[in-house]
Amino acid sequence: MGQGAKEHWGRGQKCIGSGGKRATKIHFSKDFKYLEIYFLTNLLKKMPSSYIKGIGYYVPETIVTNADLQRHMDTTDEWIQERTGIQERRYAAKHKETTSVLGTNAAKKALTNAGMDANELDLIIFATLSPDYYFPGCGVLLQRQLGITKTEIPALDIRNQCSGFVYGLSVADAFIRSGMYKNILLVGAETHSMGLDFSTRGRNVTVIFGDGAGAVIMSATDEQFRGILASRIHANGEFAEELAMINPGSHGGVHVPDPSVYGYEEAEYGETFISPKMLTDGMLFPNMNGQLVFKNAVVKFPEVIAEVLEAAGLEKTDIDLLVCHQANLRISQFVQKTMGLRDDQVWNNIQRYGNTTAASIPIALAEAVEAGKVKKGDLICLAAFGSGFTWGAALIRW
Ligand code: UT7
Repeated sequence: MGQGAKEHWGRGQKCIGSGGKRATKIHFSKDFKYLEIYFLTNLLKKMPSSYIKGIGYYVPETIVTNADLQRHMDTTDEWIQERTGIQERRYAAKHKETTSVLGTNAAKKALTNAGMDANELDLIIFATLSPDYYFPGCGVLLQRQLGITKTEIPALDIRNQCSGFVYGLSVADAFIRSGMYKNILLVGAETHSMGLDFSTRGRNVTVIFGDGAGAVIMSATDEQFRGILASRIHANGEFAEELAMINPGSHGGVHVPDPSVYGYEEAEYGETFISPKMLTDGMLFPNMNGQLVFKNAVVKFPEVIAEVLEAAGLEKTDIDLLVCHQANLRISQFVQKTMGLRDDQVWNNIQRYGNTTAASIPIALAEAVEAGKVKKGDLICLAAFGSGFTWGAALIRW
């Protein structure tokens, strides 16, 4: 619809197609031709919905327990379990497995589950915060590893950390609804283990994270009331540095009053992206203000779930299964309690895998499906919160 036409919607009115419940009033104007095109297009062409046609996950074989970490840093199994619920996590096999490799393994399972060949895909979306390379992104590596050599489909990398999968789902859904693509591979994968600080200095971050990957095939369907019913994504950059990996990077210290805190040095050229000081002072690891993240997460999870339920015209009592990003078991339990859900209405696996960031939702969802917890017609709610801060939720009619 033309921009001009939008300006003629009155105050409090909702644009047609927005899913709003209020009646829509049309103000005919010089922009009538835009409205005409809009109506005709939508009357003649039924917009498809997107649904999850296939799902799969892959976690590395190596199990690292809390006791294993205790050999490297001053921590205890008791502290980790009490604060996070985590008992063990998986680490990728060094020099064999990377984020794109884990993602490829999960993608192959999702393709098999969907009964599809990789060459039938129209788009790859890859969500990760731990890519194999700073650039190019993991999407093209995954494309190569899946043997997609002829179709030259696009590969989109997204950088939304813990919310990466929900962001990707929202983008894939929009592409499918628009009619642009029919079959999209969405992957969330991480290998945190290669970039963590295994000294006591990094213990608040290191004990939380694990490696793994999950993938879904999202496809178009004409079936009404099936698939992604609604999704909402949000961000607030105010706290960008509170859960971040600052170095290496091209920030040059400009975002903080004292650049030296990030190990930025005054060389004529170079030594900005990565400097000797960053290396010697251990500034090349993620940092996290855990309490701030926790406090925001417990507010934003229920908020965005309520938003997505309202958008779909549903109630929290309609939810059959809630799959939260596995940030911390205590956060998930808080959300469960706020929503009034029983234990059998949530799926948590952080105890076994730790926090796998962009991979955590697709791994948990794939496990729940594998365990027979998800039946056709069930209402599944996905929700995520993390670095950025970014957050989002989606409702899926299975
Ligand atoms: O995907 C989103 C990613 N992040 C999150 O969701 C994180 C959300 N936040 C959290 O999960 C919690 O804040 C943590 C689990 C990270 C930390 O728990 P906390 O109860 O907030 O602990 P804290 O950071 O306030 O630290 C309490 C104490 C400190 O010692 P002092 O200063 O009281 O002596 C820490 O140094 O615990 C110490 N500590 C540890 N002790 C043993 C921090 N990490 C560890 C550790 N083992 N691994």
